[in-house]
Amino acid sequence: MLDQIQQAADFISSRILEPPQFGIILGSGLGSFADQLESKVTIAFEDIPHFPVSTVEGHEGKMVIGKLENTVVLVLQGRFHYYEGYSMDQVVFPVRCMLYLNIPNLIVTNAAGSVDMNYKPGDLMLIKDHIKFHADSPLRGPNISAFGPRFNDMSDPYTHRIRTLAKAAAKRLDIPIKEGVYYYMGGPSYETASEIKAIRILGANAVGMSTVPEVIVASHGGMNVLGLSCITNMATGILDHPIGHEDVIKTSATVKEKFITLLKSIISQWANL
Ligand code: HPA
Repeated sequence: MLDQIQQAADFISSRILEPPQFGIILGSGLGSFADQLESKVTIAFEDIPHFPVSTVEGHEGKMVIGKLENTVVLVLQGRFHYYEGYSMDQVVFPVRCMLYLNIPNLIVTNAAGSVDMNYKPGDLMLIKDHIKFHADSPLRGPNISAFGPRFNDMSDPYTHRIRTLAKAAAKRLDIPIKEGVYYYMGGPSYETASEIKAIRILGANAVGMSTVPEVIVASHGGMNVLGLSCITNMATGILDHPIGHEDVIKTSATVKEKFITLLKSIISQWANL
């Protein structure tokens, strides 16, 4: 597998002039963040050797490398979900390419349902920690020791000092932000009302079908990680009507502007740490 990662990473390197300092994975409906970049290089996923291609509406399937002020960032417009039928190795392939490229920082964003009655659609939630009881792990199988140890520590997967920086940035911009625990579900079914009740009792604030595999691999490889959820809907059982993917796309479109403003501010401060 390391061969495939190397070939993909070498291909990406051959298309860019400066090494990126940030990898950014954009969730459903949030892909337009990449429009903010200058001196852009855009690569279609299908052109990168061994890269999977995405199949979900709202995911564009492109890698965009460019500059935000003086910081070089590598943005994925679209990600790979386990429910699409990809193996965990495929789901985390882009993050392993980032590790191979020595990118030290990762920002992961997603759309999520709220299990917390105090949240509402359109809220942004900084991910403090996650819960994954889903059986498969992206680290199952032979360990890639070039990236990290067999049994990796998960005591601070969403880097504490970066969360502190993000909260300060949100405060300065007067953008309200929650901080909570993300529960990972394999999907693609949305949850039952009973599952949501259980998830709340277990201590999570939001639920979604992405992000956690990528964060596990980033953490294994020693990256600093920031996770940001866009609350697109109240979860099953709280909501009085069925959840649809259209609602997810619609709500994420309404928060796009504050999301982009906040992310840019976080990156400019993080880059100067
Ligand atoms: N459940 C799981 N994933 C989601 C949801 C949800 O309610 N909303 C957006 N992604």
